[in-house]
Amino acid sequence: MSGIRFESVANVDDIEPGSGLRCIVGGRAIALFNVDGRFHAIDDRCSHDDASLAEGWLEGCEIECPLHQGRFDVTSGKATAAPCVVDVSTYPIRIEDGRISVAVPI
Ligand code: FES
Repeated sequence: MSGIRFESVANVDDIEPGSGLRCIVGGRAIALFNVDGRFHAIDDRCSHDDASLAEGWLEGCEIECPLHQGRFDVTSGKATAAPCVVDVSTYPIRIEDGRISVAVPI
């Protein structure tokens, strides 16, 4: 049987607006971002090479990869700047009582 499972990963206060946090959910590395108080979760591995997107620079809703400065829209996972051409996955988020949960496929 397949589906999704939410896992609690962080407090909303753990991630300042304009910043990101790497977390592991279901054995998968996820990058969580706070864009003006709204949270978004994408793969924490750049689709171009082996870099953590959570360690990049968030500008608006775009994350710039720390390795070769490719970019992704954290709200959609879309690759928006070269050398990145392959989109990354996004993951559903739930917020309850100040805790952020992220869902991954099981
Ligand atoms: Fe991200 Fe190259 S590893 S742009």
